Amino acid sequence: MKAVSTLQIKTPETEHDVHSLIAKRWSPRSFSEQAIAPDQLNALFEAARWSASANNEQPWEYAYAHKGTPGFDQLWDCLMPGNQPWTQKAAVLVVTIQRNTFAKTSKTNPWATHDLGMANAQLMLQAAHLDIYGHMMAGFDSNKTKEVLNLSDDQRPVCMIALGYLGEAEALEEPYLSRELSARNRLSINQFTREL
Ligand SMILES: Cc1cc2nc3c(=O)[nH]c(=O)nc-3n(C[C@H](O)[C@H](O)[C@H](O)COP(=O)(O)O)c2cc1C
Repeated sequence: MKAVSTLQIKTPETEHDVHSLIAKRWSPRSFSEQAIAPDQLNALFEAARWSASANNEQPWEYAYAHKGTPGFDQLWDCLMPGNQPWTQKAAVLVVTIQRNTFAKTSKTNPWATHDLGMANAQLMLQAAHLDIYGHMMAGFDSNKTKEVLNLSDDQRPVCMIALGYLGEAEALEEPYLSRELSARNRLSINQFTREL
């Protein structure tokens, strides 16, 4: 029941109607004990798979580990201290990786980060559809992650994602509890758009 009240706090007051999945997604820090089944996780990667990308390069790669595995501990060790307490209960940790260059030409792909972000956005919305929530994190040690995953110079870990089903906010300690219970806010549309 407490998770329901968190959902109420986090549901945005939009200026215009949007798809319910867009309104539903937010970044929690409290996760339940429930594991994510492999086919559910693959549904998230399927959503990422069908994202658009420049030249259909699909410059995204995902490395992941389920809670309770050595891989999970290895990825968790790469997180910055501020992200470690609340991610302990995540069901899955994902590293989202861009390939820096086009496969055919080996030239730099200037849109690689953009396209990874597109794929990640689709992944997150598919997650919301399945009542799975994701929390993206730039707070991780990039060099350590490269070592753990044995990445080449062509691969850049851009962000990590903690995935899981919603837990109760009250399971968190400060400062995470207050963040879990605060409303989401955004700039107004007229602050980031202009018509010519
Ligand atoms: C690329 C990226 C990096 C982020 N890094 C962190 C992080 O290291 N730690 C954290 O707690 N939240 C992180 N966040 C979550 C943002 O703070 C969060 O998305 C933002 O406050 C908006 O909240 P909402 O996702 O609930 O709408 C990150 C989000 C993105 C997209």
